[in-house]
Amino acid sequence: MALAEFLAELERFQAAAAEAFGAAADALALEAARIEFLGAKSGRLRAVQKQLGSVPGSDKPAAGKRFNDAKTVVESAFAAAGQRVAAGAAQGALATTFDPTLPGVRPRLGHLHPLTQTIEELKDIMGRLGFTVAAGPEIEDERHNFEALNIPPSHPARDPLENFYLAAAGVAAGAPLLLRSQTSTVQIRVMEKTPPPVRIISLGRVYRPDTADATHYPMFHQIEGLLVDRHVTMADLKSVLRLFASSFLGSDVHIRFRPSFFPFTEPSVEVDMSWHDTKQSGTTRWIEMGGAGMVDPRVLEAVGYDPEEVTGFAFGLGVERVCARRHGVTDIREFYRNDVRFLHQF
Ligand code: PHE
Repeated sequence: MALAEFLAELERFQAAAAEAFGAAADALALEAARIEFLGAKSGRLRAVQKQLGSVPGSDKPAAGKRFNDAKTVVESAFAAAGQRVAAGAAQGALATTFDPTLPGVRPRLGHLHPLTQTIEELKDIMGRLGFTVAAGPEIEDERHNFEALNIPPSHPARDPLENFYLAAAGVAAGAPLLLRSQTSTVQIRVMEKTPPPVRIISLGRVYRPDTADATHYPMFHQIEGLLVDRHVTMADLKSVLRLFASSFLGSDVHIRFRPSFFPFTEPSVEVDMSWHDTKQSGTTRWIEMGGAGMVDPRVLEAVGYDPEEVTGFAFGLGVERVCARRHGVTDIREFYRNDVRFLHQF
């Protein structure tokens, strides 16, 4: 066989093999193509190799070199096709292990923080009694936190060590600002803007430099209530707080007033709620929830109300305390630890 003829034959073989390997769709088809072209006994490579024997002697080295080149090209085309087919098979396997009929993995849903839940529920309860929600700033001036509430400069509650004063802001200008230490500030802010009657609650954060323990934290929440109208008496205060307690904590909860003193109420009381302690052989304990009283006439005067015309009551309770009481939480620091094992229980 002449050299030219052999090379043409080699060319045809190489092209056909490359096409067959490239077209093989799966392992089975590729194996069939392998046997056809590279099969050891009767493959077409083998046939071409035999023809190499009939090329004239002087052309043999050139023909042999071209034969080896073609063989390398065809073998690497086979290897590439093998990789392609294997990758396709792996993907196919994945497709068959994904079962779209299996139930999915549900992401765990979060929920409101227990204190937020409490705040929302208290708004709801008080809303049914006709109290609307008012808000005030957490950074306050001394008029709203103290003066208009009849707390004189000499009062211990105004001690800088009992409050978070914002040092740089205002002091130089003679108008010190502080983080409010009580939501009673909102009483003043509302009455300054609205003529009587008023019937509001306000819920929010207050700040005091207390050392954190099971019942104290430097930041906590209060719910403030204020009702000013004609003929408001202490009996109204008591019935509202009793409804508040039984709606939020249960109808078996009692409230108790203890005489106390606040500069902005007269008379003033501490408000306790009963705690039927099943762990301690069913004894009843009293837990202090906050303070209350009849709005002091001087406060009404400070906002331009006529104390001969209207009277009012006010109360301020700790949201953490009522929430803890409701859920049997014994350490209010738990509310701020952000430990989901605690928070998921509510
Ligand atoms: N502001 C008082 C406190 O934080 C509570 C209070 C509010 C007392 C309203 C009487 C009336 O301790």
